[in-house]
Amino acid sequence: MLVTMPSQRQVVGLLACLSIASFFLTAVMHRDAPGLFKFYDDHKPPHGEAENMEKHPTYKPKPDYVPPPIKDNFPLLARSKPPPIPEWNVPRKDLYKYHDLPTAPPLLIGFSRSWPILLQAVVSYITAGWPADQIYVIENTGVQQANTRGQLSLQNPFHLNHTTLKSLGVNIIQTPTLLSFAQLQNFFLSLTYTHNWPYYFWSHMDVLALSYEDGHEVTPKYNEEGYKSLYALALQALQRAREEDPRWGIRFFAYDHLALVNPAAYEDVGGWDTMIPYYITDCDMHSRLAMRNWTMKDAKAGIITDVSTTLDDLAALYRLENVETKFTDPNPPAPAKEDSKKSARDILADVRVAVYRGDLAERDGNEKEEDQNLERWRKLLSTADTMFHYKHGNRGRNTWQTGQHGGQGEPFYYDAAGLAEAIEVTTESGKEVYRRKWGHRDCDLRTGAGLGFDDQWLVEKDW
Ligand SMILES: *[C@@H]1O[C@H](CO)[C@@H](O)[C@H](O)[C@H]1NC(C)=O
Ligand SMILES: *[C@@H]1O[C@H](CO)[C@@H](O)[C@H](O)[C@H]1NC(C)=O
Repeated sequence: MLVTMPSQRQVVGLLACLSIASFFLTAVMHRDAPGLFKFYDDHKPPHGEAENMEKHPTYKPKPDYVPPPIKDNFPLLARSKPPPIPEWNVPRKDLYKYHDLPTAPPLLIGFSRSWPILLQAVVSYITAGWPADQIYVIENTGVQQANTRGQLSLQNPFHLNHTTLKSLGVNIIQTPTLLSFAQLQNFFLSLTYTHNWPYYFWSHMDVLALSYEDGHEVTPKYNEEGYKSLYALALQALQRAREEDPRWGIRFFAYDHLALVNPAAYEDVGGWDTMIPYYITDCDMHSRLAMRNWTMKDAKAGIITDVSTTLDDLAALYRLENVETKFTDPNPPAPAKEDSKKSARDILADVRVAVYRGDLAERDGNEKEEDQNLERWRKLLSTADTMFHYKHGNRGRNTWQTGQHGGQGEPFYYDAAGLAEAIEVTTESGKEVYRRKWGHRDCDLRTGAGLGFDDQWLVEKDW
C-alpha cells in the first residue's frame, strides 16, 4: 500500500477548512448559550419564596407495611468476650506452614449492608476453624469514618460494629468509596500488592459455613484421627492447586460461596471489567480466564449455605448449652392480606414443614444420637438447610438486603429502597455493556459464540 504525504497546498487547505469549521462551531455555541443558561435556570434548586409556592413535588405513596426493627443476633458480645470455638475445629498453630504455604491465606469478606448477616458469616467461619486474625472484613459502605466512630445505629443498612469485629479478632479494611461488585473484586486484587498476598480466599457475606463434622465422606469425623475442619481442607486445596497445577486460576467451594483466587491469573486477563458492575460480570471474567487457559475447578472444604436470614443467637455456633438453634427473617414479609397470593402465614407453614422434615430425617438417620456434639451440629445443619429453602423457595433471594431501613439523619444517609433501585438500574446498564462488548447476550462466550480473548469489542452482535 502506498501512503502519500500531503502536499503543502493540501495542508494549507486543511488548516483553512478547520478554522472555518471552528468559527461556525463557536458561533453556534454562542447562539445556544442563552438556551443553555435557561436549562440551568429551570433546574436550579428553589431558594426564593415565589418558586416554592409554585412548585410542589408529588411524593410516592408511603409503604403500607414496614418490617419491624432488626435485633442484635449476638447479644453475648455486649457482656463478654467471645466463647471458645469447638475444640476439634481449633487449628494447630501456623497450620499453613504444614501445607508448604509461604503466608497464611487471608479470607476476604466484602460488606456493603446487612450487619446481622455479615456477623453470622464471620462467626460461622471462625467457629468452623478459620483463624480470626486471617479474616478481613472489607467495609464497602461509602460512609467514610461513620462506622469507625460508631455513628450509625443498628437500623441503618450500612451499620457495621467495629468494636464487635475487633472483639472477635478479625481485621477491617475500608474501601475509600462505595464500590460496585466488579470494583470490589479489583480492590481485592489491589490488596494483594499492598500486603504481598500470593493468593487469597473470598466469601460472599450471605452465607453460613459449617465444617464437615460428621465426616461427610470427605474427612474422618470430628472426634476421629485425621479430622480436617473447613479451614484445614481449604489449606489443603490451596496446597494442591499450587503443587499440581501451574495454571490454577480459581478454586470454587460450594458453588462460588467461597473462592480461592490466584492473583497472577486475574492480572493476566486485566482484572474484572468495572464497566459491567454487577450481574454477568462473572461471566465476562471467568470466560476471559478460561480463554487464557487458567483453570477453574470445584473443591470441597465444608458446607457453606446461601442464606437470607440469621440465627437468632449466634452463640449456637459455639455449641453453647441452653442456646436454641433457630432463625428469624430480618426483613419478614408483610402480614397476610386477603388477596395476597403467598401470605406470610403460607410462608411460615412451608418453613415449618421443612423444619419438621429436617427433624424427621434426623431421627430416621440416627434412632438415638448419643453424641451431643454431633446432635448440636446436625441441628445447625438442618437449620441452615431450612434457611436455604426459605431464601430460595419462599422469599425473594435478595430481600435480606433491604431489612434495615433506618438511619435517617445519620452521616451519609441514603434511602435504602432508593439504593436497591439504583443498583438495579446500574446492573441493567452493565448487561448492555456486556452485550456490546462480546456481541453475545448469554454467558457461554466460548462454547456458544466461539469467542476468544482478543475478540472483545471487535465483533458484531450474533442475534
Ligand atoms: C457495638 O457493640 C458494642 C458491644 O456489643 C456496643 O456496646 C456498642 O454500643 C455497639 N456500637 C454501636 C454503634 O451500635
Ligand atoms: C490455551 O490452550 C490451547 C490448547 O492447548 C492452546 O492452543 C492456546 O494457545 C493456549 N492459549 C494460551 C493463551 O495459553
